Amino acid sequence: MMKAVVIVASTSGYLGQREDKSGPTLKARLENMGFTVPEILLLPDDRRKLSEAMRELADEQKVELIVTTGGTGFAKDDCTPEATLDIVERRADGIPEAMRAYSSQFTDRAMLSRAAAGIRGETVIINLPGSVKAVEECMDCVENSLIHGIEILT
Ligand code: MTE
Repeated sequence: MMKAVVIVASTSGYLGQREDKSGPTLKARLENMGFTVPEILLLPDDRRKLSEAMRELADEQKVELIVTTGGTGFAKDDCTPEATLDIVERRADGIPEAMRAYSSQFTDRAMLSRAAAGIRGETVIINLPGSVKAVEECMDCVENSLIHGIEILT
């Protein structure tokens, strides 16, 4: 069974100041697609911590998919795309391009997500924005092609 791990990038969620709902939403979506989702990692908006967690999941745990939620916007501490690009070996820009194009039918602010995606070893890594609504909309957009991409890679 293919494994996917969810990473929630949210300093307030990490500190317990805000209940995170997008992590469980994303986990449910991935399970519906047939993935086993062993954990939801709640991490602060810290570039080193985020990239180190992604590197470990790819190199040691060898999960097929990592999906992050949050930290893709313009706020000063938003750094999920930078953390992702620090550790991917090959970028997969078509994925966030498609998400932003698809999402612009729901909100003009889709253009404000700097989400990235790429491949490290045999792991695909994708950033999504942080809201439950954005998670649902972006997963609607990517889920079919994503499975095909993972099948080609692994
Ligand atoms: N994409 C979709 N599909 N739906 C949304 O509601 N919200 C946007 C954008 N992308 C949104 C979306 C908004 S308001 C912001 S600020 C950016 O994602 C970045 O969100 P983040 O900082 O939570 O990652």
